[in-house]
Amino acid sequence: MKPLRTAVFPVAGLGTRSFPATKVIPKEMLTVVDKPIIQFAVEEARAAGIESLVFVTSRGKTLMEDHFDQHRELYEMLDRRGKVVELASARAAEIPVGQLTCVRQPEPLGLGHAVWCARNVVRDEPFAVLLPDELFLCEKPLLAQLVEIYNEYGGNVIAVSEVPKDQTARYGIVDPGEDDGRIATVRGLVEKPEPHEAPSNLSIVGRYILQPQVMDVLSRGSVGKGGEVQLTDAMARLIGLQPFHAARFEGHRFDCGGRAGFVAANVAYGLQRPDLASAIRAALAPVLAEDEQRRAETLP
Ligand code: G1P
Repeated sequence: MKPLRTAVFPVAGLGTRSFPATKVIPKEMLTVVDKPIIQFAVEEARAAGIESLVFVTSRGKTLMEDHFDQHRELYEMLDRRGKVVELASARAAEIPVGQLTCVRQPEPLGLGHAVWCARNVVRDEPFAVLLPDELFLCEKPLLAQLVEIYNEYGGNVIAVSEVPKDQTARYGIVDPGEDDGRIATVRGLVEKPEPHEAPSNLSIVGRYILQPQVMDVLSRGSVGKGGEVQLTDAMARLIGLQPFHAARFEGHRFDCGGRAGFVAANVAYGLQRPDLASAIRAALAPVLAEDEQRRAETLP
């Protein structure tokens, strides 16, 4: 079994769910507390032992590459001014030289197509896919949790979480086979089924470990739901040919591609910070109390 060394980050999207914030700024550069969203996913990948990172980008997304690059002028200036903490945090955002590759997805043809754009970097090795819009606040970073399962079972491993049945049309949904309550074998996968067609309420979330053969399936360019090349459909073709497991995880998921998830992530991650938690609590307490009172008054 080959070790996992590569991770693909599909970051070509326009971020229309966050307009006007993302009219100019890539959505992945919006900050949760004081870090761009993409940096959380990069740190998660590196914590899982990933050494080769592939950004699948598009026009207007170069800010992201700059963020992870060295910035000599800035470092020298911070150093001259004795800004030790700031210098350390700027340098902590670097990806080591030679570990980042950027490839372009010139047209938004779907998540499967975005992943396929990375095929010449991935080559014949297993790889992870991280959808950076989604942040997972877990004791053990989520990709590292999946790597443990991958080391045990091999093949393909995807993270899943239970969603209310009326939300299945927003996600890829797993048809589970043998299931111990945490890990299930995957018997089928359906992209965004209507509730009455959904085989379960186990939704695919944005963390995957996949075998390179999925690239061969994606090469066919078959379109699925929404007229797009769907990663879910390509993965489904591997079932029965390779081990395929779905893993539930402990922790919170925040969909930062949407406004409510983004705001909630800022609060949740802020409350994790020893240097900020009490100030955030103090600032929010009267706001929440007032909101509560207003809602009580307007209730019928
Ligand atoms: C994508 C995948 C879907 C998955 C979801 C997780 O959908 O196609 O299977 O459940 O990410 O966020 P998207 O949200 O890009 O429409």
